[in-house]
Amino acid sequence: MKRNNWIFFLPLVLFSCSGPKNLTGEKELPSLKKMFQQDFHIGAALSAPQIQQKDSATNRLIQKQFGSITAENIMKCEVIHPEWNRYSFELADQFVDYGRKNRMFIVGHTLIWHSQLSPFVQKIKNRDSMQLFMENHIRTIVSRYKGKVNGWDVVNEALNEDGTYRKSIFYELLGEDFIITAFRLAQEADPGAALYYNDYNIEQPKKRAGAIAIIKKLQAAGVRVDGVGIQGHWRSYKVPLQDIEESIRDFAALGVKVHFTELDLGVLPNPWDSDAADVNMKAEYSAKMNPYAGGLPDSVATQQAGSYGELFRLFLKYKDEIDRVTFWGVHDGQSWLNGWPIRGRTNYPLLFDRKLQPKPAFFKVTETKTNPSSRKSF
Ligand code: G3I
Repeated sequence: MKRNNWIFFLPLVLFSCSGPKNLTGEKELPSLKKMFQQDFHIGAALSAPQIQQKDSATNRLIQKQFGSITAENIMKCEVIHPEWNRYSFELADQFVDYGRKNRMFIVGHTLIWHSQLSPFVQKIKNRDSMQLFMENHIRTIVSRYKGKVNGWDVVNEALNEDGTYRKSIFYELLGEDFIITAFRLAQEADPGAALYYNDYNIEQPKKRAGAIAIIKKLQAAGVRVDGVGIQGHWRSYKVPLQDIEESIRDFAALGVKVHFTELDLGVLPNPWDSDAADVNMKAEYSAKMNPYAGGLPDSVATQQAGSYGELFRLFLKYKDEIDRVTFWGVHDGQSWLNGWPIRGRTNYPLLFDRKLQPKPAFFKVTETKTNPSSRKSF
């Protein structure tokens, strides 16, 4: 061995002693998508500016941490299909190109949802026109991204809290079979894309029963359904771990994969003590309802970190049934929970803060991989 060969081994020694460091000697942050790559995809919902890579630091964070992306808003009807005969694909094309360039698992959100509909859809009054809308909408969008979008949230939020069907415009005009129609159309337009039913609170027993009935109905009709999306808009101080565990088991028993599609753990009080994520629910602002406007107290950050840790320990326990865990946003400053259900609050639901720095929750999540003994409780 030549005299100075040791120098080639130095990086290895440094790495194994203290984790990788960058050129300035700072310890590098681990990458979630790499840490969990044998387990499930780690994803994030992206806003329009993020898709357009407006901020380079955010862009670097996204590319390093997330292996899957969902469009937070720009594939919804009001954006992508504003008029009967007009589609607006500019942002959606950019989103799909971004995901492909970075070899990400791309999720299309969402084809059939009662909210954020274009005005022309809200005016549809009869069955035939609604059927025609669904055919045009699903065929046009899904076939445009055939072979590029990996999975679609085909139907979003079709259920009420008690497990009955939401009386959406689709349900009112087409009856409960609108779900079968939507999945069949998506399957025909891209037989290779995975198809999901996505909803919030479906870990709760009554609503879960409704979701199970939908999946069974699709299966009985011979229509493919590959996964169920549990959104995961929970409060950090009240994560329903037992319901989540039972749901993973129940859904997996149907032969579908489980996706956690919109994960965020808000820290603020909820006016109705509820985990509903219905965008139409609104409440009045008061200072009492916005307690952390000046910053997140350590005690709350620690509590939230513990909840994220418990959740990821559960996810790892069921990694064979879970395909993806997607956060609903990249950093706290961008979260929808700053504006819902009360406008103008300061919430802290994600793993990265407003300066793109990892929070204690980030490290609790990575600890579930680096310190397997912390998993013993499950
Ligand atoms: O695009 C307009 C912009 O032109 C306008 O200037 C601005 C003024 O308010 O509004 C912009 O639209 C907003 C849109 O987000 C894009 O930023 C809407 O007001 C706002 O209501 C909308 O909120 C989105 C919400 O869905 C609406 O349905 C949230 O960002 C988005 O995170 C949220 O996502 C949903 C999932 O799709 C389904 N599950 C629940 C989840 C949370 O509600």
